[in-house]
Amino acid sequence: MPSDTVAIAADHAGVELKSLLRKEMEGMGLRVLDLGTDSETSVDYPDFGTAVARAITDGKASRGVVVCGTGLGISIAANRFKGVRAAPCGDATAARLARQHNDANVLALGARLVGVEVARDCLKIFLETPFDGGERHSRRIAKLG
Ligand code: RB5
Repeated sequence: MPSDTVAIAADHAGVELKSLLRKEMEGMGLRVLDLGTDSETSVDYPDFGTAVARAITDGKASRGVVVCGTGLGISIAANRFKGVRAAPCGDATAARLARQHNDANVLALGARLVGVEVARDCLKIFLETPFDGGERHSRRIAKLG
């Protein structure tokens, strides 16, 4: 699977923001694997955090974006999978540091907490910022495994 595939999923609270972020990524030329949900009918966020985490552990995507009301429940679900590092981010600085220090491979956003412009900034920075690397950060990330 090409490394530019990004899996995205949301619960009903995040469905609108998901659709906007999906278009944003397609506009950047990225391949997007949209794992739902597709309507505002109430669903359970763990199912969608799990879907993105599985896409990563199965090698169908290299990165992911998950959206729920707060970004919390869906990130907790995704983080139950080995090798998945989902970071709930409320601003661009968090998104940058999640990449630089934590090598986060899933961005989690709270559609009820952040506005569209902040979410866009988080996405762009998350996708463009490399991991700082180095022994210190790598050692700590290895301990998460
Ligand atoms: C759904 O109402 C809400 O609980 C969910 O989107 C999320 O915020 C959970 O963490």
